[in-house]
Amino acid sequence: MQKIHAAITAVGGYVPDYVMTNAEMETMVDTSDEWIQSRTGIKERRILKGEGKGTSDMAVEAVKQILEKKNLKPTDIELLICATTTPDFVFPATANVITDKLGMTNAFGYDVSAACSGFLFALTTASQFIESGRYKKIIVVGGDKMSSILNYDDRTTCIIFGDGCGAVLLEPDTEGYGVIDSILRSDGNGRQYLYQKAGGSVKPASMETVMNKEHYVYQEGQTVFKFAVKNMAEVAAEVMERNQLTASDVAWLVPHQANKRIITATYERMGLAPEKVMINIDRYGNTTNGTLPLCLWEWEKQLHKGDNIILAAFGGGFTWGATYIKWAYDS
Ligand code: UT7
Repeated sequence: MQKIHAAITAVGGYVPDYVMTNAEMETMVDTSDEWIQSRTGIKERRILKGEGKGTSDMAVEAVKQILEKKNLKPTDIELLICATTTPDFVFPATANVITDKLGMTNAFGYDVSAACSGFLFALTTASQFIESGRYKKIIVVGGDKMSSILNYDDRTTCIIFGDGCGAVLLEPDTEGYGVIDSILRSDGNGRQYLYQKAGGSVKPASMETVMNKEHYVYQEGQTVFKFAVKNMAEVAAEVMERNQLTASDVAWLVPHQANKRIITATYERMGLAPEKVMINIDRYGNTTNGTLPLCLWEWEKQLHKGDNIILAAFGGGFTWGATYIKWAYDS
């Protein structure tokens, strides 16, 4: 019997309407459009406005597109995994909120927490359920409302991130298309360089933690940058080597959108031409778990059946990884 692979068969995405430009950033912190563009590649990012709106609201819009594209009923979905760092609540899982809002009464759901690598970790996990033969329709969501954990007085972090969410549908394939290989890594020693200091069980929320602004993203940018450049580039090259792929075999690189300079280092290490690299950091900034599926969503129409695609990510934790997909359909 042919091996079952988990094939992405549809992509959905959602970015909020509100565009926060670098010019608006200049009115909030001591920064400049020139600095932000030259150091990160970002021109603008999207922000989810509105009282009571969370990550699940963006996810619902992304998943609805998939259901419409594939003419599926919510009850056809068996499992939904949501990768997010900004869940609606500490508990229950945002996946549960999404499935409830969409009426996916036959699906179970849970969240995956691996910071910016979360989508790759969730995609790999979901693929195992498909490969086992027991599950036929799984949705993987990656998204974040980063604006909910950003300190808009801290110019070193608030300029980088934005809000957005993407989703993919996974179905079984026996013709050799789908998720072929993944290399995932983590190193908890890196947690000190990129994390949220309070709000977990070690330091629950208190008046003091709020006053000290400990519920926001804390990042030692340069250190994270160095680890990201090295590890994202290396793991992407490793997944190519392990699958005997040369640069000319690769149709697309889908890199995590943290910093244009990290993306450049990665595709150069892989020997790829810039035309083969999906880059939308200029318009969306770093949407954390949203970056990879949002790229697939924007480029979906340019993808062809049989394309070799490498996804690569690096994030807090530290976590990093690369996944090799043989694309399963022409749009
Ligand atoms: O997605 C998860 C993983 N995260 C990442 O991969 C992010 C990795 N890190 C980075 O992308 C970069 O380190 C940053 C974009 C965060 C910062 O860029 P950098 O080139 O590493 O800047 P830096 O921290 O070395 O700071 C250089 C200078 C400093 O001034 P002095 O000390 O040289 O006078 C900063 O104070 O730039 C200053 N600076 C700014 N200036 C204007 C820092 N942020 C800003 C700003 N506007 N927003």
